Amino acid sequence: MAQPIIFDVDTGIDDSLALLYLLSSPEAEILAITCTSGNVPARQVAINNLAWLELCGKPDIEVALGSEVPIVAPLMTTEETHGPQGIGHAELDPPRGGISPRHATEVWIELARSRPGQIIGLVTGPLTNLALALRIEPELPRLLKRLVIMGGAFDHPGNTLPTTEWNIAVDPESAKIVFDAFSGLPADRRPIVCGLDVTELIEMKPEHLVRLARVAGSTPEELLSPDDAYGTRSTASNPLVRHLTDAVRFYMEFHVTHDQGFLAHMHDPFAAAIALHPELGVTRPATIDVELAGTLTRGQTVADWRGLWGREPNAEIVVSTDPAAFFDHLIDRVGTFARTLT
Ligand code: RIB
Ligand code: CA
Repeated sequence: MAQPIIFDVDTGIDDSLALLYLLSSPEAEILAITCTSGNVPARQVAINNLAWLELCGKPDIEVALGSEVPIVAPLMTTEETHGPQGIGHAELDPPRGGISPRHATEVWIELARSRPGQIIGLVTGPLTNLALALRIEPELPRLLKRLVIMGGAFDHPGNTLPTTEWNIAVDPESAKIVFDAFSGLPADRRPIVCGLDVTELIEMKPEHLVRLARVAGSTPEELLSPDDAYGTRSTASNPLVRHLTDAVRFYMEFHVTHDQGFLAHMHDPFAAAIALHPELGVTRPATIDVELAGTLTRGQTVADWRGLWGREPNAEIVVSTDPAAFFDHLIDRVGTFARTLT
């Protein structure tokens, strides 16, 4: 029985690979994709998802527009990280399909009510849509089977400000609403949180793309290099490999210009894999809260590992994983799926 998923995104290069991974996974049933502003504005996020879905032969999955701005903070986006349209150098055909008439909050609430206790909510962008849905339907934490979040940094530096991670930093108020609302659940229903502590272990390198192309039967095999001309386009015979390579190259160019090496932190595909296979990560319970007033630390996710606040844990934070095993899994899935597309 496939696991039904609501996938809330700010697509983004790694959100794109997370989508491809879910589409490649027979045990995943994407009920809908809900879009929020983050890496790029929400409407562009929706267009990106429609385009990837049509490339992958899955035009019928609903793509709904959510909040175009955070609930309090002014909108910030990061085209420098993900490219002007949010998919790096990839140039996908403009989608023929349209955005759903339903708002993202309607999608969250109506789906959760229709299949109580069955759906996993997977959020790989700011938590704005989920926070807005919680305001309308406070029972959402108990209507979902589980929530999986890519977000936060706990015992690890931030990637947006010294102590903040992007998804939380874009909309800290929404993040606090979500962590507060998902408090008090049984241990096996607590949100699973993938912060930078673990997602920055997921370093996609050029050889991973070579392996994926090989599984897909795509030629030529292209070993990306930081010495390549900026924006070199893939000539891969397989369309999914070609567009994914163009997207990821942009991300690697960004990381190398920020002294992180010619690699790409694949935060969101890891969170997607955890949603389907939580055994891929080791978790520890903690109480998470979000700093909203800090002059230097606004948007920081604070983890109380020892109950010093006297509050019950409200999350299971992923504290370790086996990156090589994850990449074996990801490459096998996405490469095999790509082979079905010609
Ligand atoms: O901090 C990394 C997260 O922020 C990822 O989800 C990336 O796509 C951006 O949304
Ligand atoms: Ca994202």
